[in-house]
Amino acid sequence: MSTESPDRVIIFDTTLRDGEQSPGCSMQPNEKLEIAFALRDLGVDVIEAGFPIASPGDFESVRTIARQVQGPVICGLARAAKMDIERAWDAVKDAARPRIHVFLSSSDIHIQHQLKSDRATVKAKAKEMVAFARSLCADVEFSPMDATRTDPDYLHAMLDAVIAEGATTLNIPDTVGYATPDDYGAMIAGILKHVPGAARTVISTHTHDDLGLAVPNALAGLMAGARQVECTINGLGERAGNTALEEIVMALHTRADFYKLPTRINTRLLYPISRKLSHITGMQVQRNKAIVGQNAFAHESGIHQDGMLKDRSTYEIMKPEDVGIPQTELVLGKHSGRHALRQRVADLGYHLSDEQLNNAFDAFKILADRKKEVYDADIESLAENQLQTTTTKLYTLQAFTSNAGTGTLPSAAVCLWRSDGTILKDAATGDGPVDAVFKTIARICGVNIKLIDYRVRAVTVGTDAQGEAYIEAEHAGRKLHARAVSTDIVEASALAYLEIINRMVSRDGRDRLLPTDIFPATA
Ligand code: KIV
Ligand code: ZN
Repeated sequence: MSTESPDRVIIFDTTLRDGEQSPGCSMQPNEKLEIAFALRDLGVDVIEAGFPIASPGDFESVRTIARQVQGPVICGLARAAKMDIERAWDAVKDAARPRIHVFLSSSDIHIQHQLKSDRATVKAKAKEMVAFARSLCADVEFSPMDATRTDPDYLHAMLDAVIAEGATTLNIPDTVGYATPDDYGAMIAGILKHVPGAARTVISTHTHDDLGLAVPNALAGLMAGARQVECTINGLGERAGNTALEEIVMALHTRADFYKLPTRINTRLLYPISRKLSHITGMQVQRNKAIVGQNAFAHESGIHQDGMLKDRSTYEIMKPEDVGIPQTELVLGKHSGRHALRQRVADLGYHLSDEQLNNAFDAFKILADRKKEVYDADIESLAENQLQTTTTKLYTLQAFTSNAGTGTLPSAAVCLWRSDGTILKDAATGDGPVDAVFKTIARICGVNIKLIDYRVRAVTVGTDAQGEAYIEAEHAGRKLHARAVSTDIVEASALAYLEIINRMVSRDGRDRLLPTDIFPATA
């Protein structure tokens, strides 16, 4: 007999779908798989792995996750259209527990301006498409998009129609982040009161953070009877983002006395997954972000420090270790062995294959020679470099030099290896050493990149710290980002720049780059 509370909250993570819709946050398939494994370890109940009709890459990535990640329900998003639903089903059907998530706008604003339709047609479409999804999959979620700006009677009628066709979860999106906690709670209570059969389904919250109310709205929804929360790691998502998973989970956990709504999340893995996502997407977590920000557990004022020294409960409602913030950073050095590295990589939440671990170990030895102490942040970078290097690369950096100084003309010479075995060399001048290296690489590859963002930061402390270069670029209307780490920041920048080119080329095929992006490549 199950001893689980009937009030357990289902945690539905949509980092890989709604989160990935954040500008500049697209992820590579292997990075998505890594996040999906980490979400499984974290204990989420449902992973929305993507929007399979959106692109062949999205489809493949959802299918891979469905086939490889055991445990959580694997969900694929679909518009209320047969083609979308079939594609979503093809992508998730190999999962042990597949789900199709169908959405269709319900507010008059969307019906008139976006769908150019009318209420009756839209309701009939929702009904027909949920029935179709249900003919393929036993687990079907329906979302009336822009629900919080929808006429309540019409919303109830639409939900009633999809319940009749077998929808198992009803998700109520605050698509534009307009609701207040009172509105949103009342809306969920209204659905449970006025829609016959709603209580037999799971009611879900999906709240955006445009007014900074995503988490309060989701909590109000739960208090009113919702039992699934849709959320993302670090609150990633369209515009201001979604409900942050770590915040809603820690609110339910820390104030269990009040909410009495348990989850299955292993809270000690919240910090590692937050770091991992931030590294992969390049989207840094603000220092004062609740739960996972660098300052979340830092006590600066004298009075607070004094209280903390006397008794931690004076100023601390959660312990850093509860969310997986390491108390002491384990330091590795050049005498540390493969086993210690393997253990640390696993503790930091990475899933490297034996081959990736061997490569990481070789890189670790080189790093440990350059640097006395290797910190967790260094190890995270080594592990992430391995994730990046599993994608097929057209170009690899063989060697480079760059010169700069007062009174000299900044210049660089670069040697690249192309995957067909050709060695390519060139040199250029630039506005500084990094610019000169970028210009040389662009000339060799025959590619013009529009840089949107370029940042360099130290991964750890000290003058021997590794530098991380982060680059965001635009190509053919899509944003790409890449990061790389080295003790030499010019090298880190060159590697990140080359990674952008490799991603651009592998996504588009060299001959499909726009004519304006190409000028004669170096022979
Ligand atoms: O915000 C929204 O309305 C969505 C739906 C697709 C569920 O993300
Ligand atoms: Zn959304």
